[in-house]
Amino acid sequence: MRVLVTGGAGYIGGTVATILMQAGHQVTVLDNLCHSKRNEVPAGVSFVQADVADRARVESLLRELQPDGVLHFAALIEAGESMQKPEIYFRNNTASTLSLLEAMHATGVQKLVFSSTAAVYGEPESVPILETAKLVPTNAYGESKLLVEYMLQWFHRIHGLRYASLRYFNVAGALPGRGEAHEPESHLIPLILDVALGRREKILIFGEDYDTPDGTCIRDYIHVADLADAHILALNALLGAGDGKLICNLGNGSGFSVKEVIESARRVTGHPIPVEVRPRRAGDPARLVAGSEKAKRELGWTPKITDIDAIMKSAWEWQQVRYKH
Ligand SMILES: NC(=O)c1ccc[n+]([C@@H]2O[C@H](COP(=O)([O-])OP(=O)(O)OC[C@H]3O[C@@H](n4cnc5c(N)ncnc54)[C@H](O)[C@@H]3O)[C@@H](O)[C@H]2O)c1
Repeated sequence: MRVLVTGGAGYIGGTVATILMQAGHQVTVLDNLCHSKRNEVPAGVSFVQADVADRARVESLLRELQPDGVLHFAALIEAGESMQKPEIYFRNNTASTLSLLEAMHATGVQKLVFSSTAAVYGEPESVPILETAKLVPTNAYGESKLLVEYMLQWFHRIHGLRYASLRYFNVAGALPGRGEAHEPESHLIPLILDVALGRREKILIFGEDYDTPDGTCIRDYIHVADLADAHILALNALLGAGDGKLICNLGNGSGFSVKEVIESARRVTGHPIPVEVRPRRAGDPARLVAGSEKAKRELGWTPKITDIDAIMKSAWEWQQVRYKH
């Protein structure tokens, strides 16, 4: 396959681009490097430094490549920041994607896999969260992605776009040579591993009075390699005969509490990982766990690395190598 990967210098896009390339596909990465560096572009891909919103550049690239599909990872991802500066989220995540869709339509490129998020659900009424749950984002980041999902439905209905919208839960873990490095970092596992590496003094726990067995929030951690498999299956499904519209959750199906994740890091790293408990943060639901049956049923996808220690170990191995240099 010939594939265009937007945001392919980032954590997830870079991992998927690497796996696609290793499987023998022809991969072009488009990234403006606003949240990544040139040396994070996977080795061996063709690289174009450009913004998804650069309509003329993207259109000429699509014309030249005529890819079988586009995997669209490029986005700003900080929910907290989106509540300070919603405009940059609607511009970069929503409006830029409209520009990409226009360029795809103009060039006859008809298949798109979109990185959506569990944040489209907001506070769930029940868990596990199914795709049919209410869509009520509690932050502008989630809304910026939900608006894209609405546009995708209309492009599908009117222009015949074939798309998969994959709603990821908490993506974690690493492949050898490639792992999670956001700047700034707000995700729990890399923050905990920073403590184990001596780069941070302690880990803050926001609230231990939730209605959960140990009082801390429960989240669903999905290994990035499993996520990559789901993208390849989704792209293949779009190339097949189905109706060309797929919306599904990608999660591990089991939740782990903040304290369980910290315990795992203690086992894996041997470090005591000091903690400090702070009051709850506004808008943090007690439990976010995916119902991923639909992805299993419709894509034949099953996550393989579901044990929290295995996820932690892969992240830890990568973080150690990363800071050796
Ligand atoms: N990390 C998670 O746990 C998680 C969970 C749910 C959904 N997602 C989604 O997955 C996708 C990838 O997330 P990630 O963790 O790899 O983030 P990341 O920040 O590591 O990667 C995003 C990449 O997109 C690039 N980018 C951003 N805006 C761009 C633009 N306008 N034009 C070109 N390039 C642009 C950045 O430079 C970066 O390389 C995002 O769409 C995110 O919303 C991530």
